[in-house]
Amino acid sequence: MTEEKAKGIARGLTNYGDAAFSKYLRRSFASSMGYSREMLDRPIVGIAQSASGFNNCHRHFPEMIEAVKRGVLAAGALPLDFPTISLGEVFVSPTSLKFRNLMSMDVEEMVRAQPMDSVVLLGGCDKTVPAQLMGAMSANLPAVQLVAGPMSTGRHKDHRLGACTDCRRFWQQFRAGGIDEQEIDQIEGKLAATSGTCAVMGTASTMASLTEAMGMMPAYGAAIPAVSADRLRMAEETGRLAVRLIGSGRTPRSILTQEALDNAVTVLLALGGSTNAVLHLAAIAGRVGLNLDLHRLNRISDRTPVLVDLKPTGAFYMEDLHYAGGIPAVMRELRDVLHLDAPTITGETIGDRIEAAEDWVDRKVIAAAASPIRDTGGLVALYGNLAPNGAILKRSAADPALFEAEARVVVFTSLEDLAARIDDPDLDVAAEDILLLQNAGPTSAAAMPEAGYLPIPKKLARAGVTDMIRISDARMSGTAYGTIVLHVSPDAASGGTIGLVRSGDRIRMSVRNRSLDLLVTDTELAARRAALPARAQTRKRGYDLLYDREVLQAEQGCDFGFLVDLPQD
Ligand code: FES
Ligand code: MG
Repeated sequence: MTEEKAKGIARGLTNYGDAAFSKYLRRSFASSMGYSREMLDRPIVGIAQSASGFNNCHRHFPEMIEAVKRGVLAAGALPLDFPTISLGEVFVSPTSLKFRNLMSMDVEEMVRAQPMDSVVLLGGCDKTVPAQLMGAMSANLPAVQLVAGPMSTGRHKDHRLGACTDCRRFWQQFRAGGIDEQEIDQIEGKLAATSGTCAVMGTASTMASLTEAMGMMPAYGAAIPAVSADRLRMAEETGRLAVRLIGSGRTPRSILTQEALDNAVTVLLALGGSTNAVLHLAAIAGRVGLNLDLHRLNRISDRTPVLVDLKPTGAFYMEDLHYAGGIPAVMRELRDVLHLDAPTITGETIGDRIEAAEDWVDRKVIAAAASPIRDTGGLVALYGNLAPNGAILKRSAADPALFEAEARVVVFTSLEDLAARIDDPDLDVAAEDILLLQNAGPTSAAAMPEAGYLPIPKKLARAGVTDMIRISDARMSGTAYGTIVLHVSPDAASGGTIGLVRSGDRIRMSVRNRSLDLLVTDTELAARRAALPARAQTRKRGYDLLYDREVLQAEQGCDFGFLVDLPQD
């Protein structure tokens, strides 16, 4: 640590005349906040915090920030929190993904622009942690991630309720006429029972877990419940750690190596985690010049068992994973397929953490590697003329009876078309058909919503159909399930083959062969492509313009082109 860096308030102070004048000026302004000179001479730990009135998951952040500050002060630095964009998953339109890159830019630039020596990233809701990690990788100041922690479950009659897999389960029952309006109203009030992130292995829990797996947070940091006293102790410990990071050389880029990325992918596959995590990992990796290769994901998937029995695919909730042994217990089962020498932000290796993990494991929640829940990983990438750059299927959430299929396709050309026709009693659709949604990818106006979970047409749902093959260039919520192929790339709006599919065509999917093909001749596809109407030009300004120009396809994590692997200062 240089002399200047040891004096937090002094970092980067060359903007106002001579360096001594700058320091004097900044100290005098900081003094107006009531800090003593002793405090202002300490190194500074920034706390990038994403609480907002529009983010229920982050409701308890004031208490967590206080705990982080306690840790920072005790370790001899000065904590200064600052707000960034918050992305409350269900409150942001058209999609929170559209604004993830904007939040990452906010984090990166404010970490760079303000005088701090290390930073605690405090997030939790789906897109916030990826955005913070993307920003931190680019800024490359010592950083440690702290998350909200999962919601605790609620109760309805004898059902445990956790947002939001149970939301879908009960809504499906309501649509099929199994429960009435009064009961669905009661359930609505009980689904999200506490502060914290969605209670299942959705995107937020998956990203928290992968952050721990890649080494960017202390052991056990992912799964401690939001409302537990241990969550506050983790916040305090994170504050102390952020002080230890100053001058340690442990920067985000030194942690996220290819080995750490492989470890994160391995844990993703063992968790049966969210498909969204594939996008986010690709985007985070892209910031350090790494590529999340989907063929590599398939190879890792072939050797990684699913070990964790959480909803949406299993029986348990995130709080159960914590009490069952947490991510260290999962990683211990995976030790033969992990890079044990990968470094972590605490200075331990992943192998050290596994050694130190508690022995006791609840086998109902975390299976032994010798008797896994499934022999192969939760996700698989498919390729073919329908998805030349890949598509993702969460096979652990899908019906294996549908894995090898050739069927007629029923096409919906947009979200509006889907909404207008899916429940039409006259819709020409049968249980064995494939449903396909177009124009919901990253370059569409919809900006890749979680619309890939196409509802089962009402007339089929009422006849007892619970799953069908569904294909789109959209995403799916990490809390959803079904035989659903997502992230088809290139997307329809950028001219991908998926935009050329017509109702009545046939598609062949083979999970065994990792293939997804449209059974239409190249000549016919060329004719269809030639007949496509020109893309409507709507005048764009501001962020919409930037998004349109820069957004990349799914396999590059939908980051912006100009943010990928920027050279460091
Ligand atoms: Fe915030 Fe689900 S809504 S994690
Ligand atoms: Mg979600």
